[in-house]
Parts: sequence; C-alpha cells; structure tokens
Amino acid sequence: MALHAPSTLLSTVKGDNSQMRALVTGGAGFFGSHIVDALRARGDDVVALDDLSTGDRANLDPGVPLIVTDISDREAVRDRLAGERFDAVVHAAAKTKVVESVAQPALYHRVIVNGTSNALDVAQLSGATRFVNISTGGALYGETPQCATEESPIEAPSPYGRYKAEAERLASSTPGLPAITLRFANIYGPRQRTDLEGGVIAIFAGAWKRGVPLMIYGDGSAERDYLYVADAVAAILAAVDGGATGSYNIGTGVATSVNDLVAQLTALLGPPKGVVRAAERAGELQRSCLDSSKAARERLWRFSVPLAEGLRRTVAA
Ligand SMILES: NC(=O)c1ccc[n+]([C@@H]2O[C@H](COP(=O)([O-])OP(=O)(O)OC[C@H]3O[C@@H](n4cnc5c(N)ncnc54)[C@H](O)[C@@H]3O)[C@@H](O)[C@H]2O)c1
Repeated sequence: MALHAPSTLLSTVKGDNSQMRALVTGGAGFFGSHIVDALRARGDDVVALDDLSTGDRANLDPGVPLIVTDISDREAVRDRLAGERFDAVVHAAAKTKVVESVAQPALYHRVIVNGTSNALDVAQLSGATRFVNISTGGALYGETPQCATEESPIEAPSPYGRYKAEAERLASSTPGLPAITLRFANIYGPRQRTDLEGGVIAIFAGAWKRGVPLMIYGDGSAERDYLYVADAVAAILAAVDGGATGSYNIGTGVATSVNDLVAQLTALLGPPKGVVRAAERAGELQRSCLDSSKAARERLWRFSVPLAEGLRRTVAA
C-alpha cells in the first residue's frame, strides 16, 4: 500500500488559534483527504468517515482517526458516532460518476440522498454548528452555453445530478443547522485516481504514465470547467469558518475542451502513445462551466490557480 504523501497544497494557520473538531465524510477520498489535511494543517482535530469504496486509507496520515462505515446506513452511522462532539461536518462522501449513475440509480439515491440525510443527522446529534455540503455544479445545471450562475435553472440530466440537488434541499431545510452548499466544477489534482474512477485529467495523466493510448469519447470538443484541488479546499475552509448559508458555485469560469486539455498535457509530457476514439456516452454534457461571481462578490472565495499551473503541479506530483 502506498504511504500517505503529505499534502503541500495549503498550510493555512488559523489566525485566532481556535481549534475545532470536524467530521469529514468521504475523508479517505481524493477531495476529502485534501480537506482533512488542510484542516489538520491549521490545527483542527479531524475525524474521517469513509466506506473505502473508492477512497483509500493510504490517502490519510496514519494519525487520522478513520471510521470505516457506510454513510447510507443510519443505524451503523449513529452507532459508530454515538457520543462524538463535532463543531463542523464537511460532507464529501458520495458516489460520483455521471455515467455509472445512469446504470445504477438506486445505488446513487441511497448513497447520496440517504447518506446526506444521515450526515445531517450526525451533525445535529453531535452539536455541530456548521454543515458544509459538497455538491456539483457540473452535473446540476445541465448544458451551460453561458457559465451557470446560482440562479440558472437546475436541469440535471443524470441521476447523480438529480440526487445531488435533492441532497442540497435536505441540507438547506434542516432546522437549527446552518448549512452551506458548494457546487464545485471538475476538481483535479494529486491523489485523484488514475483508473476509471478518477477525473479525466487524472485518467489521461495515468495513461501517459503507463504509456497507453488516451481514450476520447466523442470528438473531443466537450468542455469542462477544471478547478485545481487547492482552490477547492480553500473554498471549503472559507465555508467552514464563515457564516454564509445557501448555495455557491465554485469554479473558474473558464471552459476547456478535451482536445485543448490533451494539447496542454502534450506540452508538459510530450506526445501520448496514441488516441483511441469512442462514441459519446449517455448522460455526458457538451459544455459545463460555472460562474462563481457570487462567491467572489460576497468575499467567500475566488479562484487562483490557472489550469496550466494546476496541470504542472498535478503532473509533478
Ligand atoms: N472530483 C470532482 O470533480 C467533483 C466535482 C464536484 C463535486 N464533487 C464531489 O466531491 C465529493 C468527493 O468526490 P471525489 O472526487 O473526491 O471522489 P472520491 O470517490 O475520491 O470520494 C468519495 C469518497 O466517498 C466515499 N464513499 C462512497 N460511498 C460511500 C458510502 N456509502 N459511505 C461512506 N463513504 C462513501 C468513497 O470511498 C470516497 O472516499 C463528492 O461529494 C463529489 O460529488 C467532486
């Protein structure tokens, strides 16, 4: 098993020295483990919960308490967390694949909707005063010829997006629990899985490393808003610390095509070992992009790492 490679993404130390205790669900996953690292780096006490279905213990420092359980199993979650006190819950546990959700909607409903309900339950029982719900802009707004704002209609074409929208409604309607939902663009960076459970940048980087051809679905013109994980983590810390509630888009506002991505990776890594083209997959969007001006306007967050720099850091890691 690979050892936990310490995150060098953020080393923010809280100015007020107030330590808090946080639960991070999905804490052994790609994004969740970076959130755990960032909270610990500034002195917070963190417990991770994960069923390790796509996450990995090796993503976490051995000193991080990890509760291995299924977030959608209410009794098990209550049992394993009985008597725990948390100041904040960051809810990252989910099944995350658009195409898989079309094939397995019941699984996605159970993990995302029941899982969020249970995470909210834990937050209330443990006395938490802050709930950070991790959602997806990419799968929520459908096609976005213009980058979506929070006022854009929710037109989720996949079960993944629809259940994430349902989870948002649960988070915003839990009495007495201040909750914020962050709708993220496509996050990428170190620790993302390079097999088909990962994001396209990680999958491509893995293909380069193994010397196998890239698989491109459709003609490569599909565009996504790619957000470097350090920027995504910075939004989580701001959300944990602030008092804002409601929904915020967290993305760059820049849409990049798969073909452009391949060109940028080629500039860093040299030519790939070929490209295999396949038909477009059901549930995939042509263009997904997020307008995060609300987060910037309200001084919650703004993005700082451009794609070229994020790719350089990802490849270097
Ligand atoms: N990566 C992205 O581009 C992106 C974009 C928008 C939103 N998100 C959201 O960020 C969160 C983290 O996603 P990620 O990209 O790090 O994927 P990931 O698969 O690495 O993380 C999800 C984690 O949840 C765990 N998990 C899954 N089912 C569970 C269950 N039933 N009980 C407990 N744990 C369970 C997995 O083992 C994994 O560690 C998800 O909520 C996802 O929807 C990710």
